[in-house]
Amino acid sequence: MKTTISQVSQHVEETVTIGAWIANKRSSGKIQFLQLRDGTGFIQGVMVKKEVSEEAWTAAKDLTQESAVTVTGIVRADERSPSGFELTVINVDVISESVDYPITPKEHGTEFLMDNRHLWIRSKKQHAILRIRNELIRATYEFFNDNGFTKVDPPILTGSSAEGTTSLFHTKYFDEDAYLSQSGQLYMEAAAMAFGRVFSFGPTFRAEKSKTRRHLIEFWMIEPEMAFVDHEESLEIQEQYVSYMVQSVLKNCKLELKTLNRDLSKLENVKAPFPRISYDKAIEMLKEKGFDDIEWGEDFGAPHETAIAESFDKPVFITNYPKDIKAFYMKPDPNRDDVVLCADLIAPEGYGEIIGGSQRIDDYELMKQRYEEHNLSEEAYKWYLELRKFGSVPHSGFGLGLERTVAWISGAEHVRETIPFPRLLNRLYP
Ligand code: 4AD
Ligand code: MG
Repeated sequence: MKTTISQVSQHVEETVTIGAWIANKRSSGKIQFLQLRDGTGFIQGVMVKKEVSEEAWTAAKDLTQESAVTVTGIVRADERSPSGFELTVINVDVISESVDYPITPKEHGTEFLMDNRHLWIRSKKQHAILRIRNELIRATYEFFNDNGFTKVDPPILTGSSAEGTTSLFHTKYFDEDAYLSQSGQLYMEAAAMAFGRVFSFGPTFRAEKSKTRRHLIEFWMIEPEMAFVDHEESLEIQEQYVSYMVQSVLKNCKLELKTLNRDLSKLENVKAPFPRISYDKAIEMLKEKGFDDIEWGEDFGAPHETAIAESFDKPVFITNYPKDIKAFYMKPDPNRDDVVLCADLIAPEGYGEIIGGSQRIDDYELMKQRYEEHNLSEEAYKWYLELRKFGSVPHSGFGLGLERTVAWISGAEHVRETIPFPRLLNRLYP
């Protein structure tokens, strides 16, 4: 019976055949232990010399790391094994050999592993992180589909910028200039006026010269946008969405979290509601924590966000930032003109900002004024202004960075491990 490692629980005490690779191997003379992986999981295969043909024994003995095989064996329930199962191997057929596989069980430096990223993703830890990424994507679609959102895909090639011109990737669009999308938001606002509640999930490009454990040049963002939803209601949707993702991973990725030694107690209580503090309050907290230099009006860096997050055991919203350090489209607080109706969601344990969101300006005249203040081309942004002309309504939205969220939930130390093929300041290979 042909099966996969993820399905062996359905075949206890049965003979199965699995297409697999040899992740690792050791031998005690009379017994060989084959660490098998097939993409769906890992399982130990045990081959006892006196129970198999000489041919099978020799074939197994000659196996090298990452050779591809077809294994036949009997599935055993085994409490000592992390997956709960083991395979008593009867036979192995070699499909193809692997010679001098570069990633051996010994320690390797990060640059070496990144140069071999096309192979590194086979390793147990990397595999677990990327499976958690997949679960977050699955849970995202489920959450938004269950809550009445329509998926809309904004363009990747754009004629103008959404989040400021300093980090745009330039390219040619035949004779015109074009840029790779740094946010689909402006298009999602148009979509919200057509479909009510929408979300996008796509690649995002930032030509930032940042070399930190939170920055990628190419990352994936989930951008919901909601008509007739104010800032406060948007925060409620954000906390429910993030709680849903965390609880889905706890439920569906038990083995992966175990592989990563993730401290589950830190994830279990991530349930809505999340605490909210104002930017003003955050400044006060930072001063109390010894950041004497920070002045009202300055943006927060990673150390500031980490210090604030330390006071909470859940993600925390920092709301109402000064208008001057935020994007042109954010709606001013009706009670105070110097701050805007926005929030950043800061993850616990030093993972930093995972969401940026706001209520958008819905007033035509005010938006026009912002165009002037920010020198936005009326021609390039004519369509966006028109959304404020034809049945404008209060609306809010946010963007969640997938990789930072994966890093936090999986406990990965750097976002480069949370995307299959990272694009970093000094890396376009492989
Ligand atoms: O805060 P940002 O720049 O917000 C926007 O782009 C809004 N237009 C979103 C919206 O309201 N629709 O980015 C949103 C999130 C950040 O909180 C962070 O998680 C992630 O995107 N992000 C990055 N992730 C990895 N590498 C980078 N260089 C990132 N820049 C932003
Ligand atoms: Mg932001």
